[in-house]
Amino acid sequence: MASPRGEFSSRFGFLMAAAGSAVGLGNIWGFPTNAAENGGAAFLFAYLLLAFALAYPALMAELIIGRHARANGVTALQLIATGAKSRAFGTMVGVLGIITVSFILSFYAIVSGWMLAFLIQPFAVWLGLDGFANWLVSDGVTRNALFVVVFMLLTILIISAGVKEGIEKWATRLMPSLVLILLCLIFYVMTLPGATEGLRAYLVPNFAALAQPNLLVSAMGQAFFSLSLGVGTMLVYGSYISKSENLPLIGSLVALLDVGIAVLAGLLILPAMYVALASGVEIYSDSGALIAGPGLIISVLPALFDSMGIIGGVVAAAFFALMVIASLTSSISMLEVPVSFVVEKKAVRRPAAAVFIGGVIAIISLVIVANFDVLFDSVVTLTTEMSQPLLGLFFCIFAGWIWNRSTILDEIRQGSPEAGSGFFWRIWPFYIRFICPIAILLVYLQQFT
Ligand code: PHE
Repeated sequence: MASPRGEFSSRFGFLMAAAGSAVGLGNIWGFPTNAAENGGAAFLFAYLLLAFALAYPALMAELIIGRHARANGVTALQLIATGAKSRAFGTMVGVLGIITVSFILSFYAIVSGWMLAFLIQPFAVWLGLDGFANWLVSDGVTRNALFVVVFMLLTILIISAGVKEGIEKWATRLMPSLVLILLCLIFYVMTLPGATEGLRAYLVPNFAALAQPNLLVSAMGQAFFSLSLGVGTMLVYGSYISKSENLPLIGSLVALLDVGIAVLAGLLILPAMYVALASGVEIYSDSGALIAGPGLIISVLPALFDSMGIIGGVVAAAFFALMVIASLTSSISMLEVPVSFVVEKKAVRRPAAAVFIGGVIAIISLVIVANFDVLFDSVVTLTTEMSQPLLGLFFCIFAGWIWNRSTILDEIRQGSPEAGSGFFWRIWPFYIRFICPIAILLVYLQQFT
């Protein structure tokens, strides 16, 4: 019998959806620039370590809780609570997750809107609409507002269609295209003068950077954001996985795909920056650091594409298509968190819930657009640096200290009967109980020192 909640129809479908959630602006934009700023391959090394030692166990906690409870984040955490106090704690973590992910989506949609505008620009140029083309790539409240709304509409449309017909269908279409576009762009950029310089900046480690306390904070933040952790996204996707699936295996595949695409994106972005440098584009800011934030994607790279002549338009369209795909498969996973909650708790129909909640988030985005300088950075910091790692920590406490160990093992055994004696079960419970909470806390507190 088909589950009324919806379920991913295949392992591939789940993998594409979960990898789609994980792979986003965080991988293609955040990771390469973080690496460039923090000692190249030394950052890569710290990132790989943290991703597999801390983020993967936390990802597994969410997937296991989700599949066991087969419910939205709040209900799931309430269900595994063992008393009134842990139930209240569960409600708080679930609700904070919903609030955090909604605010993440509100700023994510703004940046994704820019990507959409930049994607349309080359087509406007080909059609001879020069004024329109210029408007698309010039910063302005009207442009930003318009494209936030368009991007949110796309997200709402996919989520309204449900797990199989919306999330899975689009993720399985979009993710393979993303990988293909990424590979083509890497090959092309590698042929250009300056690319090897960029490869060197990326791949030759500056191990002195490992000693910087900030490196670990950045690498952990990057790993948690990139794997979509702490806010219930992976929990909700986990709740749509079939009971016959081998959870430790598919969890590790998701982590591998996410890390793999981040590493690949580095092979594109850093060489592209040095190609830009070789063709006369400024890639260092006044302070002498590599331009990282918005400037990288919306000024350095477009300047590079402009300098390429006719082919530049094609490369720009491919690059921004990549960014839009990466954003959309992540934004749908964000909207699914509050939507699944409202659909299950309030018995509202999915399309109505998607339109209502998506609408509210779009309004928050518009408020940020109208007060960009005051609000944007604060919303990013509050959600991704303050709230998300702390919620990740709470999830570990739930899985390590509150939830009954034998129920967890039973859940994992459903798709892999031999799990009780496997490597995962020998390591994970200890990790999630002690190592993850302590390490997350230590790194978390470091940002306040
Ligand atoms: N993982 C996404 C990215 O790397 C962002 C994300 C965060 C998605 C939280 C869902 C939840 O861009």
